[in-house]
Amino acid sequence: MTSQSNLYLLPAGSGAQTSDEGAAPWTDEQGADLVVVANRLPVRHSSSPGDEGWLPSPGGLVSALTSSLQDLNGLWIGWPGAIDHEEPPESYGGIRLKAVNISAEEYEEFYLGFSNATIWPLYHDAIRSPTYHRKWWHTYRNVNMRFAEAIARSVAPGGTVWIHDYQLQLVPQMLRVLRPDVVIGFFFHIPFPPSELFMQLPWRREILTGLLGADLIGFQLHSGASNFSRLARRLTGASGTDSGLTFEGRDIRVGAFPISVDCRLIAEKAADPAIRARAKEIREGLGNPEFLLLGVDRLDYTKGIQQRIKAVSEMLADGTLSAERQVMIQVAVPSRESDAHYEQERHDLERAVGEVNGEYGLVGHPAIHYLHKNLPFDELIALYLAADIMLVTPFRDGMNLVAKEYVMCRSDMTGKLILSEFAGAASELRGAYLVNPHDLDGIKEAILHAMNSGPKETRDRMSRMRRATIRRDVYDWAKGFLSALQQTPHATRLRALEDPSIESTTP
Ligand code: F6P
Repeated sequence: MTSQSNLYLLPAGSGAQTSDEGAAPWTDEQGADLVVVANRLPVRHSSSPGDEGWLPSPGGLVSALTSSLQDLNGLWIGWPGAIDHEEPPESYGGIRLKAVNISAEEYEEFYLGFSNATIWPLYHDAIRSPTYHRKWWHTYRNVNMRFAEAIARSVAPGGTVWIHDYQLQLVPQMLRVLRPDVVIGFFFHIPFPPSELFMQLPWRREILTGLLGADLIGFQLHSGASNFSRLARRLTGASGTDSGLTFEGRDIRVGAFPISVDCRLIAEKAADPAIRARAKEIREGLGNPEFLLLGVDRLDYTKGIQQRIKAVSEMLADGTLSAERQVMIQVAVPSRESDAHYEQERHDLERAVGEVNGEYGLVGHPAIHYLHKNLPFDELIALYLAADIMLVTPFRDGMNLVAKEYVMCRSDMTGKLILSEFAGAASELRGAYLVNPHDLDGIKEAILHAMNSGPKETRDRMSRMRRATIRRDVYDWAKGFLSALQQTPHATRLRALEDPSIESTTP
């Protein structure tokens, strides 16, 4: 896509602002043709000795979007991740960056409050009770408006904006008002709840209307898309189907775009002799156990880590597992530590691990090795290679990329995955041992089944999961979303205005 200066001269009645110069009144001189907007920038500031400064945020999302951003004169807008910090660089790794800063009060009310203590638990099956505070809501609205204004100033006339996730649900409509000339996509990384839960939200209509400002709204699963469409029809006067809505005279596309991982990068790392040697070293360091069970999660109450520890503890108690022959490693990545629920979760988890080790561990053989830290990606790959059984048992999860990362490491078709049926990944990874994470006996049976399954069953299951994962990596996901966004009626109409030989899909 190019900078489409004349697109800003939309016909009277289109609702757009016009400008004699053909330049958007909001836009800085060098507007970006593609703007990615997320709560966080793709960089984080580190103060660790020897590692000070701005570092890239880990994960496939950043890599997947980098090439589109580089190709399309792109810009990433987000929060730098801390209140008091140096200004982030203007660009990093070939991506232009623009920071939206938040105050200490906004950190409490927008980030910890409305985003992570209202929306996060509500959208994850209310596993913890969501808290509703009018003050948090006002701050959420104000911060969303600041994001919308930053985008409005940065996007080129007729440009494309891709907004990510639950912290920014009001931004599409706010931006639509400021810049009717741009194409707006929104993607939810987390689940979108059914009406029984969503109806609790005192500001349910405002949230739906905020999202309906987008031209395309993407979800991890079809269930999220249909939950949203039904609610929009019921509460906002939107009409249409689960895949397309009409609201205030505009057509909005709705659909599922399951996210994935960087399959090639992971496969390359898993074949790296140094990382394979490290995997061997890990197993040797543990006394070459018969089975190594592994959990890797952000330390979050949605992840079901304690339930999993309880299942292992009961198996140690009844003798199905023994600390000498079977070892578990649980990596819990620190997260949202200033929130009371997260602090409590850490406390309860560490007490549970301590109790299991006190009861069933032997000198030199703890039953559970627990790490509360961020591990380098290479070390994670070594753990995935070392583990015989991977436990991914969240109570609810948008997708869960750990499951897909594990699968991508097992090119020799070994390794067994125990996966919650409430993780988005379960809809693709049908070769996993699927469990209900609330059912302790079910988790124990699945561990036992995985331990006893023969090489043929293991191979069949793993190859099925690998085929499903390889089919669509994170690059395909990003391309798929952006190309669906370009096919929305609004994008087609904008292109038709620029080039009359293109047929518009709307009258
Ligand atoms: O899964 C949703 C998500 O917001 C991710 O985008 C992010 O990596 C993770 O949760 C951690 O969130 P936070 O930005 O609050 O640390």
